Amino acid sequence: MEKFKKYIDDNRERFLSELFDFIRIPSVSAKAENKEDMVRCAEFVKKSLLDAGADRAEVYKTDGHPIVFGEKKVKEGLPTVLIYGHYDVQPAEPLELWKSPPFEPEIRDGKIYARGADDDKGQLFMHVKAFEMMNSMSELPCNIKFMIEGEEEVGSSNLEGFCSRNKEMLSADVILISDTTMIAQDTPSVTSGLRGLSYMQVEVTGPNRDLHSGLYGGAVVNPCNILCDMISSLKDENGRITIPGFYDDVIEISTEERAKMAGRPYNHEEFMKSVDVDALGGEAGFSTHERIGIRPSLDVNGIWGGYTGEGAKTILPSKAYAKISMRLVPNQNAEKIADLFIRHFTSAAPAGVRVKAEYLHGGQAYVSPLTTAEYEAASRALETTFGKKPIPVRSGGSIPIVAVFEKVLGIKSILLGFGLDSDAIHSPNESYPLFNFFRGIETIPLYYRHYAELKRG
Ligand code: BES
Ligand code: MN
Ligand code: MN
Repeated sequence: MEKFKKYIDDNRERFLSELFDFIRIPSVSAKAENKEDMVRCAEFVKKSLLDAGADRAEVYKTDGHPIVFGEKKVKEGLPTVLIYGHYDVQPAEPLELWKSPPFEPEIRDGKIYARGADDDKGQLFMHVKAFEMMNSMSELPCNIKFMIEGEEEVGSSNLEGFCSRNKEMLSADVILISDTTMIAQDTPSVTSGLRGLSYMQVEVTGPNRDLHSGLYGGAVVNPCNILCDMISSLKDENGRITIPGFYDDVIEISTEERAKMAGRPYNHEEFMKSVDVDALGGEAGFSTHERIGIRPSLDVNGIWGGYTGEGAKTILPSKAYAKISMRLVPNQNAEKIADLFIRHFTSAAPAGVRVKAEYLHGGQAYVSPLTTAEYEAASRALETTFGKKPIPVRSGGSIPIVAVFEKVLGIKSILLGFGLDSDAIHSPNESYPLFNFFRGIETIPLYYRHYAELKRG
């Protein structure tokens, strides 16, 4: 413990300067213009793993962005921990809202500000440095593998194939992931579940061109108006989603588990203040954390059509579009929900417009068992460094590949995240507190230690 702390202290500045080099590579997976940066970033990860002491590390080409695999075999017979993370980041736009440029990391008020500072470069780099530290002290009680992808933010489309083709290479006892949040800096938690996702895009087409809204308005059906009507009818007055069959596979959570969930700290006023709203809304009969953690949701992510430029332009648009995401809970199937959505949405189109709906990407929800050695190791590690037993929390976010790991590799994942909701991931001015970064590096070795001990029995 103490020697880990000392190592971290002694190497603080170097860890940060390396992380900053990592962050400076603009690895935006969604943008074609960053394709070369993605390759550079994968090479950076490979080199970091080798420098940290991996026996081997390789960059694997895919049809999309490369995957990095690295490993250190300590001893036959020891348990193997596979670390998963992603080096890709979300686009930084809108750029004008950043106080410092997104790919020039800056420390302000004890936090690193940059795109990827938390999600997931900062969190993933904690694992690289924890590995370096244990390795340099010959303190590794487990065999270690790293699988770091570059397509998480765009749906991980090439990772499932990579997993099925490389089962042997990826064999492990547990997958350890730091890509989620904890409740607060003084309230550790382990993410016990993730929501699934069906991400849709819809298109409503009316007249063959944008029309003069005076010469035609009032007589020709307006696709923007229709899209708004159609979207608003996707929920009823109780905040329930109206797509037929949508809730069919949702498992109702027992009263006991709901009571347990209600025990987690939650301050209604503070929660509203943190996003600057004066009221919250959602499905009737459920608390805020139930609405986020155990109930499905539907949200418009973006909506456009017609004229959105400066000033006024009097037209009746030809087309209207929206991107709509549905967050799913365990036992709901992403493809099935996408089909239900498409059937409902296209059949709800009134005369005068044509409607298309397309499934962009998604995946299944995930639940993590709370009574295994894999979980217990996380609980003990956090209890040691934070001085408090962590609370299991069902997160509202999604990492669809986690369910795929279970299906294809047959390995359960532990979600040991050190981010905070206030880190503003995917938003302008994303940040990651130095405290969380260094506390993470301190906690991870204890996970290995406890896990190895528990497995030994
Ligand atoms: N790391 C996040 C997911 C996350 C964050 C889960 C915080 C729990 C707590 C991940 O990078 C992410 O952004 N996932 C996407 C899904 C993906 C398919 C684009 C998401 O949740 O929107
Ligand atoms: Mn992430
Ligand atoms: Mn993300």
